[in-house]
Amino acid sequence: MARPLNVVILAAGKGTRMRSALPKPLHLLGGKPLLAHVLDGARRLKAQRMVVVCGHGADSLRAAFPGLGIEWVVQAEQLGSGHAVIQALPKVDPGSRVLVLYGDVPLVRHETLTQLAGGRDDLTLLTAEVDDPFGYGRIARNSDGFVAGIVEHADATPEQRRIREINVGPMAAPAKWLANACRLLKPTGVKQEVYITHTVDIALGEGLAVRAVRARDADEALGVNSPAQLAGAWGALRRRRAEALMEQGVRIADPHRLEIRGEVTVGRDVFLDVGVVLEGEIRLGDGASIGPYSVVSNSSLDADARIEAHCVVDGADIGAGARVGPFARLRPGAQLGAESRVGNFVEVKNSELGEGAKASHLSYVGDSQVGRNVNIGAGVITCNYDGRAKHRTVIGDGAFIGSGVELVAPVEVGAGAVIGAGSTITKPAPAKQLTIARSRQKTLPLKKR
Ligand code: UD1
Ligand code: CA
Repeated sequence: MARPLNVVILAAGKGTRMRSALPKPLHLLGGKPLLAHVLDGARRLKAQRMVVVCGHGADSLRAAFPGLGIEWVVQAEQLGSGHAVIQALPKVDPGSRVLVLYGDVPLVRHETLTQLAGGRDDLTLLTAEVDDPFGYGRIARNSDGFVAGIVEHADATPEQRRIREINVGPMAAPAKWLANACRLLKPTGVKQEVYITHTVDIALGEGLAVRAVRARDADEALGVNSPAQLAGAWGALRRRRAEALMEQGVRIADPHRLEIRGEVTVGRDVFLDVGVVLEGEIRLGDGASIGPYSVVSNSSLDADARIEAHCVVDGADIGAGARVGPFARLRPGAQLGAESRVGNFVEVKNSELGEGAKASHLSYVGDSQVGRNVNIGAGVITCNYDGRAKHRTVIGDGAFIGSGVELVAPVEVGAGAVIGAGSTITKPAPAKQLTIARSRQKTLPLKKR
């Protein structure tokens, strides 16, 4: 029978090589803190307990992940990864299998973790074959190919440094055995730290089976110790996310220049141009497309909706066949009806645009309800704020708002009304009539100068 699973995550290290005031586990990778990637991986395994060892920046770490069923343990002095595991052991069920994860190794796949966790009585390591093993612990194997130990980079001989099979970090073992083995660990190496990796030597000495699981690809092994490694891991994650979308049929102009920082669900025939950034929850319907260098957060696009180049879209719902941009800004609560149009230098906030409505140039539409087929001319402004409170503008179906109009809210424009260019509208404008509110043009003779 399988043992219940407990996960221990090591995240107490100083992260000196990041040269940052921010604790390393909080550095963002693909829009999410490093530690969040590891926690998500642990959570998917449905472990019975999840213990995080923190130390450096412990308070900000705890504040960043409130609740969520995490048991926090503080390692006051960072005396090595083995010492960190020892701090967590009192929280671990003796009958469980313990999976140790590193807070700075964020890209291990779920399938791989499942394989590690799946053993029962053995000690299982995760290894990977990498092009550049610099800095990682190397896997020493005996002449029969069995694991003979892990040699840290700093302690490795020149010959051992040529080994390209590395210790990824995650390992699993029965809790009771691990606790005993940890008791036998001694400070070693140039840094005189207590290494969790030396439990391998203890297992081999006792004749406990040591199993090595090989990661599917080298990206899984990426550890983040420096800004350069963070960028490397980010690149790998970017590639992974783009590949997942392409497998669903999305066409991507350049997968290296598509940035996904959230969850994206897609229909068929979606197209994403270069430099697109997607954040939070995004839904892209059949045939939807996003033009170059647009940033889209927490929004949905219905079928064939199109965002052109250089738009910033946040919290918007864009109806079927609608077109946005280039250079448009949609803010939270923008709801664009089917076939509507929001053009360049137009900002829309907390407003509904009816089917076929158009605001094509240089306008601000805030806290408004805009009917179907309304035409908003160039330079129209809804004056929604009086310095204290926000007020609504309501524009009926088919109304035509001339260029340069100011609609001073609260105000209502009736269906089919026409508002003359340059008007400042402060009172209701009746349906199907022309309303003009501007001073008359006069021409006077010039005085002699
Ligand atoms: C470690 C491994 C190395 C492996 C590499 C993979 C050890 C001894 N070495 O090296 O074999 O190839 O990761 O990326 O484990 N930590 C604590 N408390 C401490 C020390 C470390 O919680 O006292 C945590 C760190 O926050 C980090 C992890 O343990 O998440 C590993 O520590 P780090 O110093 O980054 O070890 P590496 O040199 O990367
Ligand atoms: Ca590390």
